Amino acid sequence: MIPEHIAFIMDGNGRWAERRHLPRKYGHKMGTEALKRTIRNCAEIGVKFVTFYAFSTENWNRPKDEVDYLFDMFRRFFDEIDQYRDKSYRIVFIGNLSELPTDVSENALRIMKETEGNTGLTILIGMNYGSWEEITQAVNRLLSKGITSVTKEQIAEELYTKVAPFPDLVIRTGGEVRLSNFLLLQSAYAELLFTKVLWPDFNKKTLIKCIEEFESRSRKFGGLEDKNAKT
Ligand code: IPE
Ligand code: IPE
Ligand code: MG
Repeated sequence: MIPEHIAFIMDGNGRWAERRHLPRKYGHKMGTEALKRTIRNCAEIGVKFVTFYAFSTENWNRPKDEVDYLFDMFRRFFDEIDQYRDKSYRIVFIGNLSELPTDVSENALRIMKETEGNTGLTILIGMNYGSWEEITQAVNRLLSKGITSVTKEQIAEELYTKVAPFPDLVIRTGGEVRLSNFLLLQSAYAELLFTKVLWPDFNKKTLIKCIEEFESRSRKFGGLEDKNAKT
């Protein structure tokens, strides 16, 4: 069974460039190409939801010129979004958008609104996303409603990712084996896959390999029956 929702930690852009004696920025540029390629490939394969970790709440710790360049990459991506609208993709930005440069957050909100009714592939993009920030704002929103005791469903309803089911598969490229504050609650029962492939090199072949690995896993959710078994 192919995963309904795949989440990607797009890591390794900097190393991809450094290995070629190029500035790190070039790696981010090629990483944006890999992002667009992966959107196309996931849609083709029949995945329904994809999430990409593009900028974490910790990425502000990078030099200002790298952070600025990443925002320029977002701006360029926004300009190309028309092609997605034709395909009826829905785009949802997750994270604390209010801390981003005003034009970036305004465009992100506009794109979300414009694609809201689309029923094709749903693309979630983490921009200034961090699980701890997400959970903190969820709790604060619930408190502001005067709630003193919460249910699991109420928490899920306040998460940025509420438009999507929890991911079945989380793929991290770049060889690091950690989640770096990404979808901590939502990944509670996701299959985790770490590959040494650097994000700019991620292509259809590597995506299919990841999906095959996912299909070979048994998912029992605490029970005894493998819910991932081919029927
Ligand atoms: C991931 O690539 C992209 C972002 C975090 C925005 P990196 O920039 O972290 O690449 P490495 O890990 O330094 O190779
Ligand atoms: C995770 O990559 C964040 C994104 C891919 C956006 P990082 O490169 O920032 O993570 P660490 O610093 O290795 O944990
Ligand atoms: Mg990294």
